[in-house]
Amino acid sequence: MSETVHPHQQASSLWTSRMAFILAAAGSAVGLGNIWKFPYITGENGGGAFVLVYLACIFLIGVPVLIAEIMIGRRGSQSPVATMRTLTKAEGTSKGWRIIGWNGVVASFLVLSFYAVIGGWSLVYIGKAALGSFVGADAEAIGGQFNNLLANPWELLLWHTVFMAIVVFIVGRGIRSGLEKAVALLMPMLFLLLIVMVFYAMNSGSFGRAVSFMFSPDFSRLTTEGVLIALGHAAFTLSIGIGVLMAYGSYLPKNINIAKTAMTIAVLDTSVALLAGLAIFPLVFANGLEAGAGPGLIFVTLPLAFGQMGGGILFGALFFALLLVAAITSAISMLEPVVEWLEEHKGANRVKSALAGGFAAWFMGIGTVLSFNLWGDVHPLGFIGFFEGKTVFDLLDFLVSNVMMPLGGLAIALFAGWAIRREGLAEDIGLKGGAYKAFMVILKFVTPAGIAIVFLYNLI
Ligand code: PHE
Repeated sequence: MSETVHPHQQASSLWTSRMAFILAAAGSAVGLGNIWKFPYITGENGGGAFVLVYLACIFLIGVPVLIAEIMIGRRGSQSPVATMRTLTKAEGTSKGWRIIGWNGVVASFLVLSFYAVIGGWSLVYIGKAALGSFVGADAEAIGGQFNNLLANPWELLLWHTVFMAIVVFIVGRGIRSGLEKAVALLMPMLFLLLIVMVFYAMNSGSFGRAVSFMFSPDFSRLTTEGVLIALGHAAFTLSIGIGVLMAYGSYLPKNINIAKTAMTIAVLDTSVALLAGLAIFPLVFANGLEAGAGPGLIFVTLPLAFGQMGGGILFGALFFALLLVAAITSAISMLEPVVEWLEEHKGANRVKSALAGGFAAWFMGIGTVLSFNLWGDVHPLGFIGFFEGKTVFDLLDFLVSNVMMPLGGLAIALFAGWAIRREGLAEDIGLKGGAYKAFMVILKFVTPAGIAIVFLYNLI
């Protein structure tokens, strides 16, 4: 590692503490993936056994890539693109690895474009819950409310715009005054709200059933596909493979132990997902709802529960506020690689970069807004059998979650495991002796094999 001071390693732009970095990285990891997606895929895949495989994937595939990606980010200390250029030059390895950086900037931009639209839904639902729209409504009425929202492009566009504006504002204020303050305030709030919800769920009468659903593994209910979905979700939920953690790692001071930090992030992320499950499933069972209801679980099924329970207005509004907080801290991280790239390559300042990146992602997001209404029957790649029936939104989600993230994670594991020199690597990662050796075996063999399986599965 050369001793030159890299742009992001100047004292003024470093994270002020290990805690601040953990909060920001955990804020990125914890998002719609944990609170909206994890419960519904757990419901669809039969519960306990799926959760067990998901946990194994987090720690055998997710954590090694997380460590490698943060390590690469800190070594390069620039945007993902410039970091990969610097490292491939310093290592004298193939320029081909630079695709990791480009993949990161493009993928995080694409994911932000549709994430902001879904994030906008949580804004709408805070209002609906607070105004008592769910009180006394039956399943049909609540499903109708959700369908009406999706059918109205202007309403979706409005909340997509508000969500994106919040993200641009926070990112534009900069790494210390913006991101750190935001995450230091938002993350503890998120934890608190979740714990309140779990306590509420404990009194629903179905807590025991929810616990056994989530934690007693019944392997007869787990399909091969379920295993692969668990693998894919481990990558998505940890935000790995698309440069976000590389960008955050670029601000990480040298004296901070990456292995320990990555482990903390993974444990926090997993706890939030499990807490979300423990908050949601008791409500689902207590109200006789369907655990495998699919992506609509939160927006169609939960409001029904909120509409029936005492204090539902308060708890409903709290729940969707929690979802919004989680989505914002994730979206902030998606804009970061784009902003770093604009700052370096276009020479723009942070405010302008955040505005330009945010505007472009907002514009791109219009495709997702229209996918739920006017373009509902537009299937751009429909002539290819595999993509039949997929809207613009479906295609973006597919491209990012099932292609760019797994491939990026695979490339990061291979680059860190095979391509870079070993000197100083153990210290850089923060592991010693047997733990380091075991880690390298996992990073070089287990992790790439696991990701390759997910990727190939999704293609076939
Ligand atoms: N990990 C986030 C979530 O679970 C999603 C995300 C993906 C964030 C990629 C950043 C990058 O919602």
